[in-house]
Amino acid sequence: MPLKITVSSSDALAESVDLLGIPAARRDLSDDARIAALDQRLDGALRALAEQAKFDGSPGQALELPTLGRLPARRLIMLGTGTASAAGSEPAVRRYVASLVRLANDRAATSVAAALPEGIAGDAVRSAAEGVVLGAYRFTKYLTGERRPQTDVRTVTLHLDERPGARERTLVALGTRIGHAVNLARDAVNEPPNAMTPAAIAAVARKVAREGKLKLKVLDRRGMLAAGMTLHAAVGQGSANEPRFVHLSYTPKTRKQARLVFVGKGLTFDSGGLCIKPPTGMWEMKSDMAGAAAVLGLMMAVSVLSPRVEVHGIIGAAENMPDGAAYRPGDVLPSLDGKTVEVINTDAEGRLVLADALAYARALKPDLLVDAATLTGACVVALGKTYSAYYTASDSLARQMDLAAQHGGDGFWRMPLIEELREQLKSDVADLKHLGDRWAGSITAALFLREFVGDAPWIHCDIAGPVLADQARGLNPKGATGHPVLTFVRLVERFTKPSDGAPGT
Ligand code: BES
Ligand code: MN
Ligand code: ZN
Repeated sequence: MPLKITVSSSDALAESVDLLGIPAARRDLSDDARIAALDQRLDGALRALAEQAKFDGSPGQALELPTLGRLPARRLIMLGTGTASAAGSEPAVRRYVASLVRLANDRAATSVAAALPEGIAGDAVRSAAEGVVLGAYRFTKYLTGERRPQTDVRTVTLHLDERPGARERTLVALGTRIGHAVNLARDAVNEPPNAMTPAAIAAVARKVAREGKLKLKVLDRRGMLAAGMTLHAAVGQGSANEPRFVHLSYTPKTRKQARLVFVGKGLTFDSGGLCIKPPTGMWEMKSDMAGAAAVLGLMMAVSVLSPRVEVHGIIGAAENMPDGAAYRPGDVLPSLDGKTVEVINTDAEGRLVLADALAYARALKPDLLVDAATLTGACVVALGKTYSAYYTASDSLARQMDLAAQHGGDGFWRMPLIEELREQLKSDVADLKHLGDRWAGSITAALFLREFVGDAPWIHCDIAGPVLADQARGLNPKGATGHPVLTFVRLVERFTKPSDGAPGT
């Protein structure tokens, strides 16, 4: 049965549900009228327990208690939402609701009432609905018997202080569908690499195109070679699962305001090829198509939001395997762009696939070109598992990216394109070497990609860290996170609504 999300202005404390969620901002709990009322109903037990547990409203804190018949709800969870000023922000609301719904599933609760922070409206209401869908997500497709969850959250009521109207219901419907778009990306990443092959990525794109009325072009290996995508084809030539190039496009009905092009790295499995990776953690390289998954999720969201900008989603899908036909270190290959490239290490495959995809994308003359790639381990060393690096030469694009990430709730940190490192990419036998020396690996990868974007306004995102989570936390379950679909959605919206901080200003 599908999950039903409703909005209401009735008193959340009066709801007869399995689980009632109460947000608590980081401040003296006595300032909060709702918590004070609850505490009274529970004869002061709430504050006493909060004090005992040193609950102070920090994000991630949870205080859970049975209501023992004093409230119609069977259980109560108070969740920390951070500083009072930030508690009603999009990411805080999304995180609160997602944590609540995930806890509900963990407790086999099927009906949930979520009191929302006071005074939230607009995009925060949409975020609350996103939170429901993201919190309810579980990847259970391959579980059998007792390992399958026996129950699912079925109803979630979001309690606002103002009576919801048509606008709020629209926002909830949109948030729900954006949440599903993020979950599509999560599913694609969680799928094992034997299932999520390059052809399977193309099949997901076909489904997104059909359901969202988008245009779709798919090239198989022969088509790619005929088009001149030699680098991309070379990366896939050691695998029985042949590569695919995918191009989805959305055109607005009204006159378009801009053309945005998103490119995703789609390595359905990265064994490293002949420069094979050590076995420890190799399985994680099933997530090496997370950039592609983000592009798929974004395009699904775009088809729902119908922005007044043209949006293209491009994916370079391949599997990097060692084999008699595999490409080698030392190979010199032409790119779609015309430049020749000397291959140094077959495990630096992503930048080769992206080089061709970016050259293709740039020919579309975009007003904004964004790529997302699980490109380097060096990036994870630099920023960890919760932040992605982004690179751009443009300060105004950086500002748009920072704002989009802030609302989307994704960690993004700008890193520098250090010019003097460019000389590491000089080759004796070809126009370019595809790899620099050991240091600044994420930066030299970005500099290599830059060779293929010409003068397109470009943002490169190295998302190797945050696409898989080691543990459930906030918005995310353990496993695929759907990063950075929400940020890309906000980026598209920022280019659609030039009023709030026009791009180029
Ligand atoms: N897909 C990997 C990067 C990666 C590493 C993503 C860890 C997620 C987690 C990429 O293709 C790769 O193998 N990069 C190498 C480059 C090296 C050979 C220069 C790396 O980072 O070790
Ligand atoms: Mn690799
Ligand atoms: Zn890779």
